[in-house]
Amino acid sequence: MDNKRSQWGSRVGFILAAAGSAVGLGNIWKFPGRAYEGGGGSFLLIYLLIVIFLGAPLMITELSVGRASQSNIVSTFQRLGHKGYSWVGWIGVCGAFVITCYYCHVGGWVLRYVFGYALEAPAIYEDSLGYFYEMLGAHADGTTSVPWTAIGFAAAFTALNAVIILKGVVGGIERFNKIGMPALFILLLILLARTVTLPGSMQGLKYMLSFDWSKVSFSTILAALGQAFYSLSIGMAIMITYGSYLPKNENIAKNTTLICIMDTLVAVLAGFIIVPGVFATLGEEEIGKGGGFAFVSLAKMFESMPGGRFFGVLFYLLLLFAALTSCISLIESIVAFLTEKFSLQRKTATVWLCLILFAIGCLYTCSQAAVPLHGIWLDGTNGVTYPAFCDFMEYLTDRIMIPVCALGCCIFVGWVWKPEKAIEEVKSCGAAFKLAGIYKILIKYVAPVAILTILIMSFTSGMTLS
Ligand code: PHE
Repeated sequence: MDNKRSQWGSRVGFILAAAGSAVGLGNIWKFPGRAYEGGGGSFLLIYLLIVIFLGAPLMITELSVGRASQSNIVSTFQRLGHKGYSWVGWIGVCGAFVITCYYCHVGGWVLRYVFGYALEAPAIYEDSLGYFYEMLGAHADGTTSVPWTAIGFAAAFTALNAVIILKGVVGGIERFNKIGMPALFILLLILLARTVTLPGSMQGLKYMLSFDWSKVSFSTILAALGQAFYSLSIGMAIMITYGSYLPKNENIAKNTTLICIMDTLVAVLAGFIIVPGVFATLGEEEIGKGGGFAFVSLAKMFESMPGGRFFGVLFYLLLLFAALTSCISLIESIVAFLTEKFSLQRKTATVWLCLILFAIGCLYTCSQAAVPLHGIWLDGTNGVTYPAFCDFMEYLTDRIMIPVCALGCCIFVGWVWKPEKAIEEVKSCGAAFKLAGIYKILIKYVAPVAILTILIMSFTSGMTLS
């Protein structure tokens, strides 16, 4: 079974697919808000340093482990002779599973907004918050109901993913990314040209280029670190799966550089579109983050710019491409695991997985506004608090599963499998790995210490879910 593994059809196909996995909702709606909070230019600088010194080495690590083992994320450790580390893969696959449950739904909301701007933009402009809540089942009169609109669009989004995955690695994922990724770049550039020419956007541009160190604290650095890992799709062993489809003659170090540049470029571009855009149309005080930022605040920006409706459709199409390519990578890595570990048919695994992901995701969407679903969480200070199910899911993945899986990968490669093996794997394409010495230090010492710091900080900061 294993010797029939798929391979990427071309170099450009792999790079676009991996960059497609990295570039997602995280880059476009999370990053701009975080950059604003972290003082604009100062956050950008910290983020860039983290991508270079922690993100890139971790991506090289995951890709080389995947290619060396030619296996899915759980069996990978067994294949390399260290079955005891399979837990790292299990955390990765479970983390990918939880993220995908809600990613499918947020992707559905984006799809809803593509149609929303195309068909009923005035309704969004009139009451952007009301429109968003209505989609989630909370009505203007204070009543709530099952959010059928959000659920319906999430079903469509999940089905779209399943269809692409069923077409296979080369026919589906690679072909889709070859069109989707360049389209995304073009759309971003168009939007950038639109926002920077809006009167009043200069102030926002200046903010994004200035260094406001008073806004930088230790928690800003942690936020940048978490954001970088999530954004690069690291810590969920996605890159192990994608690396396992990579032919031996491909240069992992070079490809990693390209993927990191593309991912960071999209995030930075989104920051330079959204922050100056909101400065120009809403004013600084309206800069928000998360769902509200992407779905609610931007409405006023599109409303107040010439051709706003057209740019609104373009923006959500862009977000849709980004979300799809990321979601595909998440589902693909779980499907690879299910088909290889349990000898399931690709079709059976994909269909059942998508149905289950979608069903659990419904609880995520319902818990946003309409149905008060609560997880159980001990906050340690004043007894038991019950966060909404959606917050619980995001906390679990971003603050616990991603860092633990990334830490496991670093320890495994740095101290057990040994960095020399990863370096050998990188060099197997026949080219030199000039930064091998630095890579070794980063993966053995720097990365594990930094990740451990995030974990300790998240446990000592009172487990707040914000
Ligand atoms: N990197 C994606 C984003 O920025 C999300 C993602 C995380 C995808 C982990 C795959 C794995 O949205």
